Amino acid sequence: MKITLSVIKADVGSIGGHIAPSRRLLETVSNHVTRHGAGLIIDKYLSHTGDDIAILLTHRQGTASARIHKLAWDAFLAGTEVAREQGLYGAGQDLLKDSFSGNVKGMGPAVAEMEFEERPSEPFLFFAADKTDPGAFNLPLYLAFADVMNTPGLILSPNMAKGFRFVVMDVNHTEGDRVIELVVPEQIYDLAALLRDPERYVVESVWSRATGEQAAVAATSRLHNIAGKYTGKDDPVMLVRVQMNFPATGEVLAPYAHGHFVAGGMRGSHQLPLMPVALNTGTSYFDGPPIVSCAAFAEHNGRLTEALDTFAHPFWNTVRDRIAEKTLEMRRQGFVGAAMLPMSELEYTGIMEKLKALESQFKVRRDTVQNDLRELAAH
Ligand code: F6R
Ligand code: MG
Ligand code: MG
Repeated sequence: MKITLSVIKADVGSIGGHIAPSRRLLETVSNHVTRHGAGLIIDKYLSHTGDDIAILLTHRQGTASARIHKLAWDAFLAGTEVAREQGLYGAGQDLLKDSFSGNVKGMGPAVAEMEFEERPSEPFLFFAADKTDPGAFNLPLYLAFADVMNTPGLILSPNMAKGFRFVVMDVNHTEGDRVIELVVPEQIYDLAALLRDPERYVVESVWSRATGEQAAVAATSRLHNIAGKYTGKDDPVMLVRVQMNFPATGEVLAPYAHGHFVAGGMRGSHQLPLMPVALNTGTSYFDGPPIVSCAAFAEHNGRLTEALDTFAHPFWNTVRDRIAEKTLEMRRQGFVGAAMLPMSELEYTGIMEKLKALESQFKVRRDTVQNDLRELAAH
């Protein structure tokens, strides 16, 4: 039976700045989905990661269904009303348009959806990250689906031996979806050449070459690019099917032990390591650090089991301690060089205005230069 998994997430307001949504806000969004999703959805799961609320839905409407997107959009609108009532910060922040036009893509919320023939047991992982952007999943997906050092299944499992197909999007292109397809292992260097620039090239989906089945889908929209200015960070979501023809759960989780540097943290303008955290964790240090949560499910006939909190396991405490050290180390670098994102990626325009104003105060010491040149020419 074909089932669609849709995850739609938005930040519609939070407590204490950009930390986490209120309980009432979460309940309002959840109740709206339950009440208005009857007869449309099969099952649902709601969680928050930092200040973002993610609605995970199972249904038979296919991807990009206007009814499903409207359900989520309206739930976030209902949440926004409560956020306003409670005086939450950034109420309605990610709802960029006044009226719904059939698909939430490009309207603010992040979306990741896939439709597939359900396996007898359908284990999958739902990732959500806050204070970072969709490129944050580039390295973990590369490691999980293309690197034998991370994923022994690539050589041990005959099901995975044919490799995977990556669909990568150029998120700088805003007039339409500009994508490229690359297969690994043959084109692994081409893939790496693109993924090294996670602000421009973002993995959209991954497919099994053995069976043609879809393994993963990640949100690719960048509000930064759509709006052309700061509108909040593009905190991404992702769904990954695991086991059998796909990497094992542990192979998909392992890359998060690296704490790789991602764009995010304070004012969406810094480079900080991505910290794996328990479900429903807020942010704290330096408006971050950038965090990622992961809920594991089994699904049958579209019905979900309870969510297992993969990063709540004691193993990740050591990882978190190490990433906290790495975070502090980078913060000792303050505002200089590698600590902050390049000018093109800064979420706030204040610095551009400052530099423009300073421009007129620069002077070229022409005499000195000319004298030096004359002297050089004379020798
Ligand atoms: C929000 C974020 C925060 C804010 C910062 C300032 O996702 O990354 O670091 O950018 O708290 O927020 P404003 O400009 O709303 O005062
Ligand atoms: Mg926010
Ligand atoms: Mg957020």
